[in-house]
Amino acid sequence: MGSVSLKIGDGTARFRRATLCSSAVNILMLLSVLTTNLFALYAFTSSPKDHHTQHLLHHTQKNISLISEQVSLILREIDSSQKKLAQMEKELLGYESFDLSRPNIANELKLFLHHHQLPLGKDSRSGITEMVASVGHSCEKSADFLSQYMNYKVSGPCPDDWSLAQRLILRGCEPLPRRRCFAKTVPKVGLAPFPFSLWKNVSAKIVTWSGLGCKNFECLNTKKLSRECVGCFDLVNGADNQRFVKARSKNDFVIDDVLALGGGGIRIGFDIGGGSGTFAARMAERNMTVITNSLNIDAPYSEFIAARGLFPLFLSLDHTFPFYDNVFDLVHAASGLDVGGKPDKFEFLMFDIDRILRPGGLFWLDNFHCFNEERKRELTRLIERFGYKKLKWVVGDRVDAASGSTKSEVYLSAVLQKPVRV
Ligand SMILES: *[C@@H]1O[C@H](CO)[C@@H](O)[C@H](O)[C@H]1NC(C)=O
Ligand SMILES: *[C@@H]1O[C@H](CO)[C@@H](O)[C@H](O)[C@H]1NC(C)=O
Ligand SMILES: *[C@@H]1O[C@H](CO)[C@@H](O)[C@H](O)[C@H]1NC(C)=O
Repeated sequence: MGSVSLKIGDGTARFRRATLCSSAVNILMLLSVLTTNLFALYAFTSSPKDHHTQHLLHHTQKNISLISEQVSLILREIDSSQKKLAQMEKELLGYESFDLSRPNIANELKLFLHHHQLPLGKDSRSGITEMVASVGHSCEKSADFLSQYMNYKVSGPCPDDWSLAQRLILRGCEPLPRRRCFAKTVPKVGLAPFPFSLWKNVSAKIVTWSGLGCKNFECLNTKKLSRECVGCFDLVNGADNQRFVKARSKNDFVIDDVLALGGGGIRIGFDIGGGSGTFAARMAERNMTVITNSLNIDAPYSEFIAARGLFPLFLSLDHTFPFYDNVFDLVHAASGLDVGGKPDKFEFLMFDIDRILRPGGLFWLDNFHCFNEERKRELTRLIERFGYKKLKWVVGDRVDAASGSTKSEVYLSAVLQKPVRV
């Protein structure tokens, strides 16, 4: 106990307190063993010479049993408080293992999470003895939604509930359990061949609109969906048409300039929070493969990106990137990287980005919205700790007219090169 040091909220502090507590218990136990032994030693070594000694011994023995009774009472008390503390910690952190015995748990969920022993015993290569299905540990906190999600007819059509799935993901229930039903299909008619698909309007008919406020792209194009997506579904007249090829401000870098910094070694990339996939499209025109990370928050990003002939990755930013170390030549990220001003959360994310980027690879921070100078300084300090080479570094102020604000806000754009660490 006490060796776990997951840094979730102030979880570390609590674990540390538990460690302190357990060492106090150890000392107490040691003391009680010592006193009991000393008394016993006294009782056995002093020979009963007269009536007075006899009387004293009797008292001592009585006192010893009294003391040991007290000590065991204290120990029991400590033990029960420790158990209570551990329970509270589990509840606070959400690490309580799934209680599948509680009522209203969908049968399919029990079946999916059921452990299966390997038929031939322990596997020599992996060392495992059973197959365990994985769901996010936070699924436990949303057990009702999860049960609703797992309530369907086996081999029948799945309920039209992708937005429920996304709600679960956003609550940290990721990965979701697998289901044995057929997801709703939408005929994908009229998909254009690549590379024409990159800039061709996508028909509203080939997209699922259930669970969304808008029911067509015209509606979406009138909305400011995010900092990165203002009219980003209008590939013909929208602003995305010019993005990455024409600079609107000094914070905008042009793709070809950035690629030139990579010395011709850029082939595969990862775009975080990539909106409708325009960065990947511009890279595809240059024969480079980019995976676009996007959930379907308020808009059908994933389907749209796929319809353009690009690779959408449906994954929240809380999830470890499903890529091996040092594989990407380029990681592009804009304000989608913002994790609500949580510095330690952002740090975990930065380390994961660093992990998947190869040495010499480029990290393009594109118009990252810092809100204010203080946040910018924090971010700068964090980035500098990674020891990247600053190939480009531009801090700009901008009035975000689209959001109706008149206050000037701080934006950071940078192209950073990952060092070789030895
Ligand atoms: C036993 O404890 C009593 C007080 O509870 C004390 O007066 C007495 O001296 C103790 N006897 C011995 C032998 O320690
Ligand atoms: C589709 O393209 C036309 C121009 O060809 C444009 O006027 C229209 O707004 C586009 N539709 C959407 C939904 O973006
Ligand atoms: C991309 O690849 C195709 C086929 O290999 C080639 O014809 C085209 O010139 C390439 N485009 C660029 C921008 O390199």
